Amino acid sequence: MAKGFPQATERDLKEQQRLKDGGEIPRHLAIIMDGNGRWAKKRGMPRIAGHKEGVESVRDIVEASGQLGVRYLTLYAFSTENWKRPQEEISLLMRLLLRALHDEADRLHRNNVKLRAIGDVSRLPAEVQSELLDGIRKTKENTGLTLVLALSYSGRWDLIGAVRTIAAEVRAGRLAPEQVTEQTIGRALSTDGIPDPDLLIRTSGEFRVSNFLLWQLAYSEIHITPKFWPDFRRGDLYVAIRDYQNRERRFGMVSEQLGGEPVAHRLAKSVTGP
Ligand code: FPP
Repeated sequence: MAKGFPQATERDLKEQQRLKDGGEIPRHLAIIMDGNGRWAKKRGMPRIAGHKEGVESVRDIVEASGQLGVRYLTLYAFSTENWKRPQEEISLLMRLLLRALHDEADRLHRNNVKLRAIGDVSRLPAEVQSELLDGIRKTKENTGLTLVLALSYSGRWDLIGAVRTIAAEVRAGRLAPEQVTEQTIGRALSTDGIPDPDLLIRTSGEFRVSNFLLWQLAYSEIHITPKFWPDFRRGDLYVAIRDYQNRERRFGMVSEQLGGEPVAHRLAKSVTGP
């Protein structure tokens, strides 16, 4: 029987409370988990050892995000481009994912986490698809954190799917081209119903979006840390959120229109535009 989320230590609870009091907790946090291979190489270990330790980071960040009141956490776990890696690494990663899904589903469920996946999951091995669907089914009524796993995902894949859906609607005569709005596109993307990320974190010091949520990241704040993903734990998450809370999100407007204080202190909901 898997264990529940361990109790946060007193020090950790205080730290979390300080963050909650200090400003807005991002509603949607998206993470590019990078640097597993380099973490392993630095230690003279095989790449898979980095991925294994990366699962420990996933566990810690999911737990801390849930405790902080993050509503959506999207993890870039396997990109469309990752299919080009050596077959052996892909197989090991898929086995690791299968095991993690199998071992964690009950724990996620007990902690009110709702599991969701985005990406071309039909490309995943059948047993991974089945474990994933089991987890999604089991947790579908949960009301806490929504954990979105981006698997066989890329932003361009998502946009191609959306364009196809909309084009079919236009061809069927149900939609005129001039009726296509941001909302039409948002609804046709795999993230339908999920607000755009407030904060994107990327580990391992790379300054790239790497074909992640291309449409959805339009106004997200970006925090880049030099730490490799297996070293990224809740303390690093708190640093990223503090950084976010000190940003002024202007959404193309000027400070004065927003009251002059960091916008992270209020929910910026429906403001869009260049
Ligand atoms: C990037 O590091 C990481 C990945 C491609 C895979 C991430 C997967 C996990 C952490 C494990 C499974 C996930 C879940 C959700 C249980 P890299 O291999 O690109 O590292 P490098 O850039 O140093 O080579």
